[in-house]
Amino acid sequence: MHGESELEPAVELARRHDEKVLVEEFVTGMEVECGVLGNRQPPPIASLPGRIDTLDHEWYDFSSKYDEDGMELIVPPELPQETIERVQQLSVDAFIASECEGMARIDCFVRDDGGVVVNELNTIPGFTATSVYAKLFEASGIPYPELLNRLIDLAVERHERRSKLEY
Ligand SMILES: Nc1ncnc2c1ncn2[C@@H]1O[C@H](COP(=O)(O)OP(=O)(O)O)[C@@H](O)[C@H]1O
Ligand SMILES: [Mg+2]
Repeated sequence: MHGESELEPAVELARRHDEKVLVEEFVTGMEVECGVLGNRQPPPIASLPGRIDTLDHEWYDFSSKYDEDGMELIVPPELPQETIERVQQLSVDAFIASECEGMARIDCFVRDDGGVVVNELNTIPGFTATSVYAKLFEASGIPYPELLNRLIDLAVERHERRSKLEY
């Protein structure tokens, strides 16, 4: 949306798809995504964040996400170290607060003043070897085969822990 006149038709369009429509403030700034890996103990870890460059797309829409050459991932983003660490900390905090386990990809905006806004938490992020989640951990020193092993270990740990619960 670019102005108030587009609001009504946009809500009408959204209502064709669902009964619930969410209208949010537009957040300007850099779009960054961060992978989180872990269960409860030891505490989950964050990957390096990556910046989403939508190239010639106005925003990160369907074609930017899925077309060949629709986007580029820049890891790490061109941000001060303290902002990178803030994205990582907030991502881990959001993961824990939402009681996630195993994996999640936390999508954020970094405003021009350095403030970080969590946009979305993806509990089943795209998960091929070329997906953002895998690329983020690859750039953080955890290649895809090791990532798979760690996720399997986490799933087993969670299963063993929870199977001790009495029903
Ligand atoms: N409040 C917002 N301000 C600015 N851009 C937004 C906002 N919400 C979503 N977007 C843009 O739309 C894209 C898709 O929205 P998102 O909430 O991530 O849903 P999904 O990824 O499930 O389609 C985001 O990656 C971002 O580019
Ligand atoms: Mg998203």
